[in-house]
Amino acid sequence: MAIKVTPLTDAVGAEIEGVDLSRHVDDDAFAQIHRAHLDHGVLLFRGQDITPEQHIAFSGRFGEHEIHVMSQFLLPGHPELLLISSLKNEKGEAIGIEDAGRYWHSDLSYNERPSMGSMLYAMEVPPERGDTSFAGMCAAYDGLPENRKAELGKLRATHHFGYRWNKEAAKWGLRPAMTQAQLDQTPPSVHPMIRTHPETNRKLIFAGGFCSGVIGMDEKEGEAFIEELTAFSTQPEFVYVHKWRAGDLVFWDNRCAMHLASDYDPKYRRHLRRTTLKGEKPY
Ligand SMILES: [Fe+2]
Repeated sequence: MAIKVTPLTDAVGAEIEGVDLSRHVDDDAFAQIHRAHLDHGVLLFRGQDITPEQHIAFSGRFGEHEIHVMSQFLLPGHPELLLISSLKNEKGEAIGIEDAGRYWHSDLSYNERPSMGSMLYAMEVPPERGDTSFAGMCAAYDGLPENRKAELGKLRATHHFGYRWNKEAAKWGLRPAMTQAQLDQTPPSVHPMIRTHPETNRKLIFAGGFCSGVIGMDEKEGEAFIEELTAFSTQPEFVYVHKWRAGDLVFWDNRCAMHLASDYDPKYRRHLRRTTLKGEKPY
């Protein structure tokens, strides 16, 4: 299979052409895709038409699936797939997370072993807005002054799912309260703010929207610190803005890319499904 890899920006992202994910991807093509994923952090495959089974099968070649804690938003019969959706069921209840990711973050960074990668497939998208931006955190780290690299290298942050869930629920008014079981399943984790990518050995900034604080700082100071670091890491020179088309599949590396979803006019339908892969404890 002849595969073409075209970088989308200098910092992050590449488009992959010549792959039909509804068919078997041979080992040689898979190796090229895996290499491109490590080199670019975010891969875009346009024009795909895949079933839930094909999505899960392709994703599963990269690692073990993580089942999302918000179990009411999983695709019935396919718990590997989380729905990001504006659609409602016959009772008028949301079938997916409607306002997912409207803050810079790395998926599941709140786990003791945060996610390795997420694979998001778009079935219906609004004609305008609803973009997803990606920031290359290796490039952002490389852009830090040396004294700042040294300072950040000594710091650790607390990541907490419930902290962010409640903030977004208050902001957009679209989220149900977490159950006690869901809260119990997602205790805070502490991770270094500079981590080393376990496969490329590159250093990168690991922080984002699930950070509820910085160890050794009070709450306000920690929040301001994270905010300032996020602003630095997401400057345009480190970012690729993805404008979705139906049939796009985007596979990103949560270890070295953060992402941000923009909102859109609620009169439009937006329906995507995502697999999430287990990762390693950051170091
Ligand atoms: Fe996300």
